[in-house]
Amino acid sequence: MLAIIGGSGMTQPSGLALSRREAIRTPYGDPSASLAVGTLHGRELVFLARHGPKHMIAPHQINYRANIWALKSAGVSRILSLATVGGIGAQYVPGSLAVPHQIIDYTCARGQTFFENGEAVTHIDFTEPFSEEIRAAILAGAKACGEAVLPRGVYAVTQGPRLETAAEIDRLERDGADLVGMTAMPEAALARELGMAYGALAMVANYAAGRGDSLKRIDLDAMHAIHREGMARVGRIIEGVLGVMQ
Ligand code: HPA
Repeated sequence: MLAIIGGSGMTQPSGLALSRREAIRTPYGDPSASLAVGTLHGRELVFLARHGPKHMIAPHQINYRANIWALKSAGVSRILSLATVGGIGAQYVPGSLAVPHQIIDYTCARGQTFFENGEAVTHIDFTEPFSEEIRAAILAGAKACGEAVLPRGVYAVTQGPRLETAAEIDRLERDGADLVGMTAMPEAALARELGMAYGALAMVANYAAGRGDSLKRIDLDAMHAIHREGMARVGRIIEGVLGVMQ
């Protein structure tokens, strides 16, 4: 079964014919929301609102372990994650969409693993943090519906909820980051720990701090407006992805 994890601005995808809601309790506590099980463009899937049904859960307070555990227990094997990010690299202008291929994790003090507190010490391979199968499906889905997406990107994950300083963005750029967001980690690693394929579609909502028109400050109203406008494109790409995915 496929799951979509919705980020900012998506508490339920439009067009989802809801069959049921599943409130799942996990050994790690409650997930961000009940799982919405339903049919979207003819395909059964599970949807989870990462920031909660009313968008009240900040990135550092999301119970990523409960979310991923709940999806696993609902029979999910593949995850399409939607994310909102700032653009660092020159091509990653506000309004663009990208399918990241790498991650650098700058988060701290989040529940990072299932393998602790008495669990056998287990290391996962994370050389390629995103599933190539899901990445390919997103790219093919975008192509099928004529939406341009940037096919790669190094996604830096910061702790938030504040946005970064200009010097922090300079540092992320020196590290090789193209995009900056707050939620891909530990989500991607936890999905890998439970053997689920994970890929992300990232919408660039603003120039990162100190870049482009965010030279002196990030205009949050403009950021939200760009994000709102971009959601229709994200919806079309999801439809395209569901059409091409086996
Ligand atoms: N930084 C971190 N996370 C974000 C940004 C940003 O500039 N924009 C949207 N999410």
